[in-house]
Amino acid sequence: KGRVPFIAGNWKMNLDHLQAIAFVQKLAWTLKDANHDFRDVEVAVFPPFTDLRSVQTLISADKLELKFGGQDVSQHESGAYTGEISGAFLAALEAEYVIIGHSERRQYHGESDEIVAAKVAAALKHGLVPVICVGETAEDLEKYGPSAVPVSQLKAALNGAAPDANIVVAYEPVWAIGSGQAATPEQAQQVAGALRALLGEVLSAEAAEATRILYGGSVKANNIAGFLRETDVDGALVGGASLDLKEFSSIAQFR
Ligand code: G3H
Repeated sequence: KGRVPFIAGNWKMNLDHLQAIAFVQKLAWTLKDANHDFRDVEVAVFPPFTDLRSVQTLISADKLELKFGGQDVSQHESGAYTGEISGAFLAALEAEYVIIGHSERRQYHGESDEIVAAKVAAALKHGLVPVICVGETAEDLEKYGPSAVPVSQLKAALNGAAPDANIVVAYEPVWAIGSGQAATPEQAQQVAGALRALLGEVLSAEAAEATRILYGGSVKANNIAGFLRETDVDGALVGGASLDLKEFSSIAQFR
């Protein structure tokens, strides 16, 4: 495929900063013992904001090849936005990535397509790579079929993005998240293919070719390989299993 597979662990609201340091340290050791080559498979963790400084310090002190990012970013630059975290703050912490538009943000925090687009713009402005999450609910699937909702969400999220925007897309069917009921590799491929076609239309042929599209939703060590075999699936956004050291390192070692 010519795209480096990407395994991303979204910790959601789990692990405080002390637990985070212990986990990242053990993850680094485990992958080192397994001779993990980070040029072959990129691995990133997405801890809560309060952990990021500790994780950054550990990664830079031990020269770890693990990447990290935030789980969200404010669409605003700075100022009177109590509780928000700016793209500049994440960039200053040397975060490379930021998750944007996760279905839990859309569902529980009222994030509209417009807000998601503004956050994507804010991330790009600060040199962060947005991991743009899209996905349909079970109800959407029944009503509109498999690709319509994810494609329209991605189109909206990229409103105003440059043709060569450096992004990652995560296709996460809401019905598959935390349910133990993963999509099949064929289902993931069908939507990933449609998303890649859209990237060609709204960005550029080059961006469509270069952009990694992840699958997310009940990914485990025993189903990861099937997704990666699909033409348009380039990795996974892992939730629950990213908190289990053995499980997450096996996912990263899917080959
Ligand atoms: O961001 C990760 C996804 O929401 C997937 O979560 O692996 O627990 O199903 P899960």
